[in-house]
Amino acid sequence: MASLFTSFLLMLCLFVVPSLSSDPDPLQDFCIGDLRASPSINGFPCKSSVSASDFFFSGLGSPLNTSNPNGVAISPANVLTFPGLNTLGLSMNNVEFAPGGVNPPHSHPRASEAGVVIEGSVFVGFLTTNNTLFSKVINAGEMFVVPRGLVHFQSNVGKGKARLITAFNSQLPGAVVLPSTLFGSVPEIPNAVLTKTFRTDDATVNNLKSKFAV
Ligand SMILES: *[C@@H]1O[C@H](CO)[C@@H](O)[C@H](O)[C@H]1NC(C)=O
Ligand SMILES: *[C@@H]1O[C@H](CO)[C@@H](O)[C@H](O)[C@H]1NC(C)=O
Repeated sequence: MASLFTSFLLMLCLFVVPSLSSDPDPLQDFCIGDLRASPSINGFPCKSSVSASDFFFSGLGSPLNTSNPNGVAISPANVLTFPGLNTLGLSMNNVEFAPGGVNPPHSHPRASEAGVVIEGSVFVGFLTTNNTLFSKVINAGEMFVVPRGLVHFQSNVGKGKARLITAFNSQLPGAVVLPSTLFGSVPEIPNAVLTKTFRTDDATVNNLKSKFAV
């Protein structure tokens, strides 16, 4: 009887806490295992000497220089620029738009995003995995969310400049920016793949590659 009860408790535990035994979410794009090293954490090792300045960051500064083909500039506060965020599962960006500026379709593989418009008028949209577009024009003081990993964009549709502050539930959300991922990779994706994918010809693919080459 006692062993039956013990088995029941064990089964209950297995069913109730499965999430505690799963792998941690990745904190970087990849981590090639060094089979000779001792176990390490999925992130960065910790500094031994800490001071107040480790917990403050002045790098979200404004205004940013938006003189580029997209008319958008981003200053990130993630673990690479603000190491105090390490292991906290948080980061933020300052995003500024010239008139007509577009933050092109991209996704963050490791984070959902919340954003608030500080200045201007911004058309914000994201796409579901069944290609449904959810979009709206929002103004200063209004917020949006983008579920983790979904493709999204923002476009300044106001007369002047626009500014957003975004927040992420990852210390390093990562960004897959579709145009440069597909047409600006190193080495290049072969034209045979891209012409078939986009049902187009070499001239069109070469034209796009020429715009995103690094
Ligand atoms: C802004 O960036 C452009 C392009 O890189 C550069 O030519 C220009 O001098 C910069 N403007 C300022 C004010 O830094
Ligand atoms: C796609 O998702 C949307 C929103 O969840 C839903 O309304 C729509 O019916 C779906 N379309 C298809 C083709 O499954």
